[in-house]
Formats: sequence, C-alpha cells, structure tokens
Amino acid sequence: MPMADALDLDEIVTRVHADMATHLGRGKVADYIPALARIDPRQFGIAIASCDGRTAMAGDADTGFSIQSVSKVFTLALALEKVGARLWKRVGREPSGSRFNSIVQLEHEKGIPRNPLINAGALVITDTLLDGDPGKVIEQITAFLRRLADDASVSIDEEVAESEAETGFRNASLANFLRANGNLHGAVADVLSVYFHQCALRMSCRQLARAGLFLADHGVDSPTGERVTTATRARRINALMMTCGHYDASGDFAFRVGLPGKSGVGGGILAIAPRRASIAVWSPGLNAAGNSEVGVLALERLVSLTGWSIF
Ligand code: DON
Repeated sequence: MPMADALDLDEIVTRVHADMATHLGRGKVADYIPALARIDPRQFGIAIASCDGRTAMAGDADTGFSIQSVSKVFTLALALEKVGARLWKRVGREPSGSRFNSIVQLEHEKGIPRNPLINAGALVITDTLLDGDPGKVIEQITAFLRRLADDASVSIDEEVAESEAETGFRNASLANFLRANGNLHGAVADVLSVYFHQCALRMSCRQLARAGLFLADHGVDSPTGERVTTATRARRINALMMTCGHYDASGDFAFRVGLPGKSGVGGGILAIAPRRASIAVWSPGLNAAGNSEVGVLALERLVSLTGWSIF
C-alpha cells in the first residue's frame, strides 16, 4: 500500500472548485449527440479517490454524466485481460495527432487504428469483447464499472445510447471500414450497439474516481485488495492515457497537467496520479479538440497545488 500523502485533499478540492467559479460555462457542449446538447454547461464537479483510502469531493461531484470516451480505458482493460498481447496485432500504440473520429488516417494505415483510445481503436477493442450476443457484453461492461465504482447504481442512459445510434454515421463509417479491412470480426451493428452503450454509461465524479483507482495502484483496487489487471498492464494503460487520452490535444494535456488522463465528450476526464490517487473532473463545455475546457483547467490547478505531475 502506498504511503499516505500529507496533503489535505478536502482543502485541495475546495480550492480547485472555488478557483473554477469565474470559468464556469466556458467551452461548447457537445451537440452532435442530441441528448447531450441540453446539458447546463455551468456545472462542475471534482472527486479524488486516494490509494490510502480517502475520498474528497467538491461541486457537482455526485451528479451523473455521460462518460463517453472515458469508457475506452475500461474496455481496454477488459480486452487486455481477455486477449492479452494479441491485441497489438489489431491496434497500434502511437498518438494519432488527429481528431478522435478521424477517418482519413484509418484508410492510410489500412484499417489498423493508431491506438485503442481513438474511436476506430475503441471499436476494435469492443469487437474483441464480443462473443455473439452484444447484450451480454453490454452487461459485462456495466458489471465491471459497478464493481470498480463499488456502486450498483451505475447504469446506462438508454436515451443517450439511442440518440447516438441515430446520429452515429461517422462511427458506422469507421466500423464498416474496419470490417472491410478484416479488422472487425463481429457484425458491424453489434459492435456499434455495444460501443454506443458503453459510451452512454452514466457516472458521477465520485464513482468514476473510485473506478479508476486500480490504475493508480499497480492494477489493484486498493480498497478491496482485488487485482483488476497485472501491474504491467496498468502501467501500459497509463502510458496510453498519457500519450493518446486527449487525441490531438494529448501533448497539450501532458504539457499543462502531466498526468495520464482520458477525456470524454460528456465533459468528464479521468486522471491518474500513479501510486497516489485517481481523480475525476466534470464540466460539460468542450474546447476545440473535444476535451472539457474547465476540466483541464481544474486539473492544471490541482497539480499545481499537489505537485502530482509525473514530470
Ligand atoms: O463515438 C463518439 O463520437 C462518442 N460516443 C464518444 C466520443 C468521445 O467522447 C470523444 N472524446 N472526447
């Protein structure tokens, strides 16, 4: 078990929350998924779950939001447990330098997505989890998040899943292109159904921070002592979050925050301070790269108060 940090986490989240007051409402709420377009952009939440057993929260930390692409971290963990290193034959490990739903790069690279955290890569990851019945995989992913969050109330927002299915033409293009290149084995409709449902998982900052704790502690969920993944895999997932977790703004996130992180267009970000804590922030307004504008600012403030940047 890592050493307790001497920091007062309650005071830190309170200060970060107060410092965000003048920034609330910045950025643009994702409107390409209709069910997300109605969200009040002035909300902000932060939660820290530390490896030594503390939880600190401020703002709207108990409000559920659509985790969207943050789900890609958890399906990656499940896929690595299922297929191990064979995964890397189907998906790369390099930052994309492109938007999260870029099509052009996939064609250039003959259907092998750059990394598991862009949409094309996440579709391949989801495909590895499918064994026929998409409903079973959706249940498996939901059960995994419930177990990690230690909260049976974690569930899928069906309205968001449907809304995305109705408008997900780019994801359908990516999936069809992957299939045409032999890098999707399941039916396109099944892979998309699982993907849209995993993105529509609704979680609060408190639940998300708790769920990410195994990534901060060598693959072990510290409160229960249960091993979720191997230490090597946890380290590698962190490496991918650092280099690819914010798409074409991953370099900027490393520069400003210096923690492995994964964003979602719902405005959530999961950040990992290795051997210290798992942190979730949420604020719906997005910057041009599709990452929470106030969320990144809040994490920047958090590392300046804690010294948790890995650099
Ligand atoms: O596939 C999509 O477009 C969304 N369900 C998720 C995208 C996302 O969260 C990208 N993140 N910044």
